[in-house]
Amino acid sequence: MCPMKYFLLLALFAAPIFLFAHAASWNAVFTPDHVTIEMHREEEIKLDLTGLQDGEVAEIAVKVAADHVAEVHKVIPGREINGGSWSGYFNVTAVFLGKTDLFVEITMGNNQKETSDEKLSVTVIREDRVVDHVFTYTVAILVSILYINFGAALDLKLLKTIVLCPVGPAIGVFGQFVVMPLLSFGLGRLLFPDSHAMQLGMFFTGISPAGGASNVWTAVLNGNINMSVLMTTISTIAAFGLMPMWIFTLGKVIFDQGNLAVPYERVGTFAICLVIPLFVGLLIQRYLPRVTRILVLVLKPVSALLILFIVIFAIVTNLYLFELFSWQIFVAGMGLPWLGFLIGWILAKVFKQANPDALAIAVETGIQNTGISIFLLRFTLPQPEGDLTTVVPVSVAIMTPIPLFALFLILKIKERLNRGRRELIEEKETADLSIEDSQETLPQEEKNVKNPPEMP
Ligand SMILES: *[C@@H]1O[C@H](CO)[C@@H](O)[C@H](O)[C@H]1NC(C)=O
Repeated sequence: MCPMKYFLLLALFAAPIFLFAHAASWNAVFTPDHVTIEMHREEEIKLDLTGLQDGEVAEIAVKVAADHVAEVHKVIPGREINGGSWSGYFNVTAVFLGKTDLFVEITMGNNQKETSDEKLSVTVIREDRVVDHVFTYTVAILVSILYINFGAALDLKLLKTIVLCPVGPAIGVFGQFVVMPLLSFGLGRLLFPDSHAMQLGMFFTGISPAGGASNVWTAVLNGNINMSVLMTTISTIAAFGLMPMWIFTLGKVIFDQGNLAVPYERVGTFAICLVIPLFVGLLIQRYLPRVTRILVLVLKPVSALLILFIVIFAIVTNLYLFELFSWQIFVAGMGLPWLGFLIGWILAKVFKQANPDALAIAVETGIQNTGISIFLLRFTLPQPEGDLTTVVPVSVAIMTPIPLFALFLILKIKERLNRGRRELIEEKETADLSIEDSQETLPQEEKNVKNPPEMP
């Protein structure tokens, strides 16, 4: 389907109107001639009409080209025209993110309509809401607390072995910064062939580093937390070099715009927010063994609560964006993280990683720091495109947990069944080590994290 066709059709129908309008001697002046309004707000506009013929005009109306973007209710009866002119005010209400034009339509006594050449261009942007700030800060505080937990649960010996032979983190970085950017680029082209802004939304989601949620999910799903935390740290640091690299190469192909601001500050803040609580946690692990034990015990339930909080709050605060959800947006939201999980898992298995490591790698690859993508889009694109394209990372953020949650349920059911089996075996007083096999090689602390005794 070529959209050009519709433009041509439109031009064909619009041409006579155009000629007519040119033939008209009246004209309209909007003051100001362009406005930017926050969603749900109103703006007062002055309108001056001149060159009208008294008695010829039945009615004058202010019209909006795209009425899902803005609304105007202004009708001027012909009798209000005095000496061929009219001056007055009307209000524009911003309905939804986007751009549109306002124009004047005059209905003559003989029912013929004329429209003005002069237009008022209206841009509707997102309002600055308290709830967004509350959400951001609450998540930041909760994540910091959780990272203290992670620090307390980190197994330094195991971490050392990973650092000495960093096959896992290397696969993670490859997945995060080679597979995901290319995947997002390809999916963007495929799903939004006509919208460069949407392709950029997709690409910016693909190039962001792993989010803190990857550690949380790895903890909940019995993956290797040490590996996960190390990978997130490495990927966040690597983002400093690799994100600009992608933005200035493949990103340029999509949208050649000079003033792209790479959010170094944002990425830096994220890295610091990650490292400081981790360090506090490590100190606690070193000097306060009793507190450490409690922190390790509550790690999984606290992680699960945090995920729930973020998902629910993110959906509620971005509800207004759901109006923009098309099937392409849904497919984009599913495709990027789900394929990321799959490719991460396959890569890890190709390089013969153990299951808990492979899980950490897969989760790390699939989960994106959508906060950074949203930030990037809002600050690099003009409004309202900046906001409109955030629908892509929002969709990704909503779709990401679905397969992870399914896996969580499967693990829970399996755990139940295994426990039942183990009790049976204990009754018979025969030790079946095969269930424990996969856990035998892990040190004591890791085991604690995996099976907190008080979890149902
Ligand atoms: C526009 O709205 C404001 C309040 O929102 C009101 O004070 C003003 O009278 C309105 N102007 C017109 C022309 O309706």
